[in-house]
Amino acid sequence: MTSFGATLDRRSLIAGTGAAALTVALPAGAEPGPAAPASAGGRFPEAFRWGAATAAHQIEGNNVNSDLWFLENITPTTFIERSGDACDSYHRFAGDIALAAKIGLNAYRFSIEWSRIEPSPGHFSIALIDYYKRVIATCHQHGIRPAVTFFHGTAPLWFAERAGWFNPDAPALFARFCDRAARAFGADIDLAFTINEPQVNEVFRAIPGASTYFAKADAASLAMHQAAAHDLDVPEFQSSGHPDFARARPQMIAGHEQACAAIKAAHGRLPVGVTLSVTDFQPANEGSPYLAVRQAAYGEWIEAIKRAGDFTGVQSYRMVRLPGPGAALPPMPPMPFARPGDLQANLARPEAVANTLEYIHQATGKPVIMTENGIETENDQLRCWFIGEAVKSLHSAMARGIPVLGYYHWSLIDNFEWNRGYKPKYGLCAVDRETFVRTPRPSAAVLGRIARANAI
Ligand code: FCB
Repeated sequence: MTSFGATLDRRSLIAGTGAAALTVALPAGAEPGPAAPASAGGRFPEAFRWGAATAAHQIEGNNVNSDLWFLENITPTTFIERSGDACDSYHRFAGDIALAAKIGLNAYRFSIEWSRIEPSPGHFSIALIDYYKRVIATCHQHGIRPAVTFFHGTAPLWFAERAGWFNPDAPALFARFCDRAARAFGADIDLAFTINEPQVNEVFRAIPGASTYFAKADAASLAMHQAAAHDLDVPEFQSSGHPDFARARPQMIAGHEQACAAIKAAHGRLPVGVTLSVTDFQPANEGSPYLAVRQAAYGEWIEAIKRAGDFTGVQSYRMVRLPGPGAALPPMPPMPFARPGDLQANLARPEAVANTLEYIHQATGKPVIMTENGIETENDQLRCWFIGEAVKSLHSAMARGIPVLGYYHWSLIDNFEWNRGYKPKYGLCAVDRETFVRTPRPSAAVLGRIARANAI
């Protein structure tokens, strides 16, 4: 989901806490979880989900009725460029799904766009529901299991104009949309996700002293939201990048719970859950505040997950070590292929995969799925290495008994990375910004080989 407006300050925050000097995670506790399918000899269970993930606003293009489209096009804005045509996946979805199959994947996670399906409050477009039915049918034609996110960062403009998730009516409005969508195509999907990373803006702000580092980005984001309210002549405009996330949290939690109930009422057997942004906070030395930081970043959502949902989507991109008061960070072995100054790449430690899956499983008592994992880099040799190590890490968690239902790499194709535009590269495939031609990178073949063999 969006963490727009915060990226630059997040980098300086990490550097400021000394986390740039990274270290390997402490070994996670090896308590056995509930029985998981055998995975000896590097093999994964039968029918393990090997997928890639995307999100509607990041790939479809011309998402003109959404809140973020509006924010991208006003002054002031925190977006460095507009999403525009994105990857034109709105028209090219069949090619994208065929590409996933050709790579060797058997699963695809994508989101349905609320602002297209319900373009004005209470009006549900039959044509757009049919459109997403075709996307799902295309997945089946290619032997791909469709995993659908109902809310991935964008809401209809009308929802944001009514104060978005600040509005006490928000949970019911979201659940009404989920009910319609689930009744239309819930029978044909593999997994349903209610909200993507509802706490993404909270994760780094949970680090003690973080507010200083976010002050500038939060002020810019607030100014953008206030400009939107002013231009639209409404009292308040909220999008998922609004800095006052604490005020949205209760409604988002209620939204998740009501959405789970709506989806279950439509299709009782469809597994449903939320996805969390999970940074692997590790203690660097004595007195580390890592447990308090984890509690602040995940605590309320862990409680919500215990109440509603069948599993948790874990989205793991980085490990951050937290030192005790006044303590220095011990050095960290460098990552192969990563330039020492490349902070994003160096934080993407593959061992965070096992740590985050294990932590969330143990905290919630429910199965987990790696719904996003990837590395921001223009060096595909690094991505190739990373994928192999990340999958080994996943396997080690399963060998310890953690029930993991699948692995989805972020992302199938390079796409619109929110306020940072098209510069960050996460794709297994590159996309030509003018012709929209997709070109698989060697890393696509690496993941494809693992998926076909169902083994590392
Ligand atoms: C995650 C988001 C996803 C993408 C990746 C890089 O936090 O869920 O949409 O932006 O980060």
